Amino acid sequence: MIGVFDSGLGGLTALCELVKLLPGEDFVYFGDTGRVPYGSKSADTVIRYSTEIMRFLSGFGIDAALVACGTASSAALPTLRREFPIPVFGVIDAAAAAAAAATVTRRVGVIGTATTVRLGAFERGIKSLDPGISVTSVACPLFVHLVEDGFTDPDDPVTLAAAERYLSPLRGTGIDTLILGCTHYPIISSAIAKTLPGVRLISSSKAAAEKLAESYGTGTAHGARGTIRCFVSDTPEGFESAGQIFMGDIPLGHAEFVDISKY
Ligand code: DGL
Repeated sequence: MIGVFDSGLGGLTALCELVKLLPGEDFVYFGDTGRVPYGSKSADTVIRYSTEIMRFLSGFGIDAALVACGTASSAALPTLRREFPIPVFGVIDAAAAAAAAATVTRRVGVIGTATTVRLGAFERGIKSLDPGISVTSVACPLFVHLVEDGFTDPDDPVTLAAAERYLSPLRGTGIDTLILGCTHYPIISSAIAKTLPGVRLISSSKAAAEKLAESYGTGTAHGARGTIRCFVSDTPEGFESAGQIFMGDIPLGHAEFVDISKY
């Protein structure tokens, strides 16, 4: 069983990829909907939240975990890897590697939450692979709210206006590759692509899911379709209907409430 978590719905973009890659695997997902967003919080708070969630997920006997959140991956991965005796994957390294491999101009953009951009983990990941690549990072704090609130239509004027506001400074920087460094962003990738035509988008969710599946792929797959259990820290209703949009034709089932502060 693999545990996956995020501040809310965004990590479902990684779960969806994982289910496609490991269809026989069992998953337990936690969305911290009672405390979203993480991207405006301090690293210490995000570490505390992430540790509570990992304690909760560990109760299911998970064999591996995916921190399906750019902010929690940036802030909490070293702590989680130290404290939990299972492989803990994040969304940084695989996306950094994919971007370093993809760029021809050797100029890469990174977009994420304010905390992700402040902590600079994607930039360090790219530079550790190729110090000559120049990285421009931009925080897009409204994007998480737009996704959580369902402004996800490719032609939504509010989302397109926000994308223009945040991303127009990236035009003219020479970037040919952009990391979606927040797992919510793949859901509005059409608006992002329209704003930056010709720039290759790297989904940190997809890259991380591929890396986890590659390292872990044989494990517990048992032939039949695996199960997905979902837990949230606020009311499950909105999560179930909105979450199904993220999962496409993969059934998400019922989410259950958990009081995560007890963990
Ligand atoms: N999906 C989270 C991330 O990847 C969103 C952070 C937030 O809650 O602000 O960073």
